[in-house]
Amino acid sequence: MELEGKRVTLGVTGGIAAYKAAELVRLLVGQGASVRVAMTEAATHFVTPTTFQALSGNPVFTDLWDTGVANGMAHIGLSREADVLLVAPASADYLAKAAHGVASDLLTTLTLARDCPLLVAPSMNRQMWSHPATQRNVATLIGDGVGVLGPAQGGQACGETGDGRMLEPAEIVEELVAHFQPKPLKGRKVLMTAGPTFEAIDPVRGIANLSSGKMGFAVARAAREAGAEVTLVCGPVSLPTPRGVTRVDVTAALEMYAQVMRRATAQDVFIGVAAVADYRPQTASDRKIKKDAAPRLVIELVENPDILAEVAALPRPPLCVGFAAETGNLAEYAEKKRRAKKIPLIVGNLVQDGFGGDTNALILFDDGGQHTLTPAPKLALARQLIARVAALLESTHAPH
Ligand code: C5P
Repeated sequence: MELEGKRVTLGVTGGIAAYKAAELVRLLVGQGASVRVAMTEAATHFVTPTTFQALSGNPVFTDLWDTGVANGMAHIGLSREADVLLVAPASADYLAKAAHGVASDLLTTLTLARDCPLLVAPSMNRQMWSHPATQRNVATLIGDGVGVLGPAQGGQACGETGDGRMLEPAEIVEELVAHFQPKPLKGRKVLMTAGPTFEAIDPVRGIANLSSGKMGFAVARAAREAGAEVTLVCGPVSLPTPRGVTRVDVTAALEMYAQVMRRATAQDVFIGVAAVADYRPQTASDRKIKKDAAPRLVIELVENPDILAEVAALPRPPLCVGFAAETGNLAEYAEKKRRAKKIPLIVGNLVQDGFGGDTNALILFDDGGQHTLTPAPKLALARQLIARVAALLESTHAPH
């Protein structure tokens, strides 16, 4: 229930993506939001108000002159009693009116009369989106502090392909959840690693660590929600990239090392969550090794660089945060690693608490001692960790 207690006024404008707004309402309500819908007249040609009424459990507003509203001022109530006005889909026509302060129907009037933030999810034909007039309007809206979500690229209802697709409802919900999070990392750059690495033995075999990547991806999402510009260098995992995070896919530890080191100096924070293989085969066979080749097979291993320790050893290192996954003696091993790698903060967790699952329990070790974060979903823990990182950063590192 990421939106518990939040009051969302959803504006729906006329566009084929209006049918997806129905699913959006369902997801918002499912996350605990109370949703009231205001539709433009054009939107009612795509979806009926009854659909939104049934899904939101609230009356739907379509008319500025609705005499059923107590003081005849639906536009005031709908934007004053909301924590956010979300317009999805937002047509080119709506963006133009919103940018210029036009108040010609219920939705544009409540847009102008609002005292809550406005988020818009544009949806239109690619040429309408790229038209200089639309781009000017979007720039004006951004300048006014409006949040513009998307649009995405892809196939369009008209058969063309390009920019202008509305974000998927689940993506809009992720953006809305992010909108409500505090922003202690605004203007900061965060570089991260996550997932396992895979060290090839031959073209079809290799050595890997067990890591689902879920904790790292949760930390990346939490850092981005907190306002940071996040780059996530990750080993082979099949997880969706958190919205707004730049993802760099790698396979082996040496690639991860190279991708991290070329970016590390310009960062405010480095968080190593990856389960990096400590060793790699000295040589990888370029052909599949056959079983009958020899009764014994010896693979010589050489040590991989310690990415976290190398970042921490840079002349002006970012604030470095490590993870220690152990099966026992957590405090002892985590502190030992913190000192060996010369990092201010290490996050300990027990393999049996978190591996592969959606929940975990963490202990933070820093100069001030240890601090336990009780078992919770990984995203909730990631947010607490990011709050701690932001506080440490505030006291030690000026922004880049
Ligand atoms: O493997 P180890 O327990 O030492 O990992 C502790 C921390 O160091 C983790 O944050 C991990 O991402 C990082 N690490 C690394 N490069 C390695 C080994 C570990 O960045 N080669």
